[in-house]
Amino acid sequence: PPSSLIDRFGRRVNYLRLSITDRCDFRCVYCMSEDMRFLPRAQILTLEELQTLAQAFVELGVDKIRVTGGEPLVRKGAMELLEGLGRLPGLRELVLTTNGSQLESSAARLKAAGVKRLNISLDTLDGDKFRQITRVGDLARVLRGIEAARAAGFERIKLNAVILKHRNHDEVADLAGFALRHGLDISYIEEMPLGSVDGRDRAEAYYSSDEIRRDLEARYVLESTDEDSGGPSRYYRVAGSDSRIGFISPHSHNFCHACNRVRLTVEGRLLLCLGNEHSVDLKRVLRANPGDSGKLKRAIVDAMAVKPERHHFDLTEQPVIFRHMSVTGG
Ligand code: GTP
Ligand code: 5AD
Ligand code: SF4
Repeated sequence: PPSSLIDRFGRRVNYLRLSITDRCDFRCVYCMSEDMRFLPRAQILTLEELQTLAQAFVELGVDKIRVTGGEPLVRKGAMELLEGLGRLPGLRELVLTTNGSQLESSAARLKAAGVKRLNISLDTLDGDKFRQITRVGDLARVLRGIEAARAAGFERIKLNAVILKHRNHDEVADLAGFALRHGLDISYIEEMPLGSVDGRDRAEAYYSSDEIRRDLEARYVLESTDEDSGGPSRYYRVAGSDSRIGFISPHSHNFCHACNRVRLTVEGRLLLCLGNEHSVDLKRVLRANPGDSGKLKRAIVDAMAVKPERHHFDLTEQPVIFRHMSVTGG
């Protein structure tokens, strides 16, 4: 049945992005500040609470859940939670976004838990640059993780590359080459201004999807697909290959009119839009009404009235969204 979650603009919400931790073993420059403080245990949802909330969303018609973080796989019990989510009747698609650092040891079990597709962050193929962008990450380990994920046989694996001028913009075509050689999809992402990032000038690092496409077209022939991704990506295909090449362009191409998603932070805050602060505190409702899923579901339905029409990002201003991407789950 179609989702019963409908907002004021007639958009149907069937997709929950569920952040299960704000912690991460990396410190990517576009996502976190260097001295990030993480949430204290008492403030975050327990695994049981995450499962209860996810179930309420599914009963209301959500049929796709993407588990995000921080880095979801660094949360203790993440695997058990994913197994629990995989058993929710009515959930059509369980998918995961990860930095790849834990995949070498967990890819096979994720597949067995029912995770259909993986999105793995990969911004560069150069170990030194990888270290500069993630501050602490180990490229070789992530590459082994990607290999393990391929071996585990996921339906699709997509790489996410945030492209920053002067850091990795010279690798656009090489990253596509890597994706093509390994039978992976890849999305190129324009940086979004969430949270402060140590005085980096985000406007100066802006590299548009049009520039990225030009770089790709110097090496490949791109065929546009009219595929509806149900999301922010516009997809292309390289002639003669199966890999899809996506562009996530929050600045240059807005897709808010087709938005089908909401986000739940690990603090239990339901965010109605990535680029706005509108939110509803579901943790409070959950903890005030133990065992009463009716009240929880009412609160979720009511929250749809708060979903804003669109986001307005401006890279030249100080960020107006104070939460970091690591709290938001992308
Ligand atoms: P699907 O939603 O399953 O298509 O995956 P995705 O590629 O959107 O998800 P992923 O977690 O891999 O995120 C990739 C990038 O898309 C991240 O930078 C997200 O912040 C961005 N993104 C996801 N949803 C939205 C959205 O609603 N608005 C904007 N502006 N960006 C989004
Ligand atoms: N802008 C755009 N994308 C971002 N991500 C993290 N921070 C940002 C940002 N400021 C991406 C990561 C990851 C996904 C969940 O979000 O690369 O792949
Ligand atoms: Fe961690 Fe992902 Fe943020 Fe990088 S972008 S710091 S890997 S949550």
